[in-house]
Order: sequence, then structure tokens, then C-alpha cells
Amino acid sequence: MGWIIRAELTTADTGPASSLLWDLNTTGIAELAPDHGSGAVELIAGFDSEAEAEAAVAALSAPETISPLAVAASVERTDPTAWIDVTRRGSIVVGGRQHAFEVGAAFGHGAHPTTMLALSLLANVIEPGAAMLDFGTGTGVLALAGLASGAGRVVAVDNDPAALTVARDNLAVEPEPAAPTSDRTVVLERLPSQSEQPAGFDVIVANVLLPVHIDQGPSLVDLLGPEGSLVATGALVDQEASLRAAYEPLVPRHHLVDGNWLALQLGHRAPAAS
Ligand SMILES: C[S@@+](CC[C@H](N)C(=O)[O-])C[C@H]1O[C@@H](n2cnc3c(N)ncnc32)[C@H](O)[C@@H]1O
Repeated sequence: MGWIIRAELTTADTGPASSLLWDLNTTGIAELAPDHGSGAVELIAGFDSEAEAEAAVAALSAPETISPLAVAASVERTDPTAWIDVTRRGSIVVGGRQHAFEVGAAFGHGAHPTTMLALSLLANVIEPGAAMLDFGTGTGVLALAGLASGAGRVVAVDNDPAALTVARDNLAVEPEPAAPTSDRTVVLERLPSQSEQPAGFDVIVANVLLPVHIDQGPSLVDLLGPEGSLVATGALVDQEASLRAAYEPLVPRHHLVDGNWLALQLGHRAPAAS
């Protein structure tokens, strides 16, 4: 037996509300198509306990969270078979266009602060035709953002078999308005070697925890092209020194923070002028 909440929101509030609900341990969110008469969107979110569902309603209804007129929420008990129709869907907005995808058993619904930080930094560095590596792809959300931004080739890597399945499914779908992805994308369980990518990647993104940055940082530095940008997130603000050290000799170009989460954009040091 589970619990669901139903909330009516304005379209603009659905992104922040979904992010809040994921932070409050929802087991899944369904977004029902907007009612064009009222402009309202109905979000249905599942919870394992009534207390969690009630806490979510209280959080959504707090004036500082969502604009007060936008929320009318209720808690209902449901049986698990009814919940089966509510798939975990993620979404991101790239270039003003929303891209939805399945989350399944992988990490990366698009609204986690680290994913959002990575998306912000990637928007500055992905040029049309860029070769991109998404290390720790999870659902493939950042690789999808790269494809939707016009990357020419995207290599997505994860060592979790469940994530590989989800990412392969998500990245087989064409992100409008770009070209079909099948020959632009490869999903792998390990990093490619330098001989497989001799020119290096123009963009590398890694949203993983600090120990993984420390372990894999040197290999990622070796795979970064001479003019490339590496976006590293998943570490905490107070881990910045260790994160920078993991990517030496790269130097930081930008620094973003959301709560306790940190993201750095790094690149090779420019050669000294002669
Ligand atoms: C925090 S999730 C990031 C998912 C997605 N890129 C995002 O930004 O929302 C980290 C992902 O890294 C993967 N991962 C962790 N260590 C890894 C490793 N050594 N090699 C490859 N993938 C790894 C995990 O399986 C997980 O899917």
C-alpha cells in the first residue's frame, strides 16, 4: 500500500515542484498534460508513507516554495497496482525545449542540483559538432543535453549495468530538433582509450562523487582535447581543494554552487606567450 499526492500547479512551477518532490523521497512523479482551459498541470507523486506524503504537501504549499495561488494538493491512499502506471519520468529544458526521458533504476531525473549545475556550465561550452564525453551518465541526461545542444558525437560511460540499459534506451530517441542520435552516440561501460579518441574530447562532464573524481581524474585529463572544457560536479563545497587536485594540471575557469553542491569548469592552462 502506498500514498500519492495530487497537486495542481502552473506550468512554470512544475520544474521546481518536481525537484522538491525528488528531494522529499517521492517514489515517482507523473505529470498530466496541461488543461488548456485553466493552464494548470496536475502532478501526481508517490510516497511510501503517509507522513512523507503529508510533508510533501506541506512543503509544496509553503509560500516560499511555490507561488501560493498555484498549489492545491491532497494526499490519497492507493494500492500498488494503481501506481504501476506512473512511470518515473525525468525532463530537462535545453534551448527552450523540454526533453522528457525515462529514469527507471538509474540516477538522473534532471532536477538534482548537481545535474542542474552541470547543465548550466555545459550550456556555455558545447559548440555545434563538439565531441563530448559524459562520465557517470546514469539515465543519460547530460549526454541527452549534449545531443540536444548540437554535439557531433557523444560517448556516455557508466559502470552500473542498470544505468547502461536506461541510458541506451533514452539516447536512442531523437532529441528534437536535432538529427537522429543512433550514429552520434555510444554508451560504454568503461572509458575509451586515448587511441580510440586521438584528438581528445571537446567537452567532458563528470557528475560523480569525490572518490570517483580522484580515481578517474587523471584518465579524464588525458582524454580532454587541448582546447577542451571539463565540467566536474558531484562533490561538496568543502571538497573543492580535493576536486581541483584530482584534475591537476587543469585550472578552474568557472565555479558554481547550489547549497552544499559544487561544480567546476576546468581547462588546460593557456601556453605562456613568447
Ligand atoms: C550522480 S549520478 C549522475 C547521473 C547523471 N549524469 C546526472 O548528472 O544526473 C553518477 C553516475 O556515475 C556512475 N558511476 C559511479 N562511479 C563510476 C565509475 N567508476 N565509472 C563509471 N560510472 C560510474 C553511477 O553508476 C551513476 O550512474
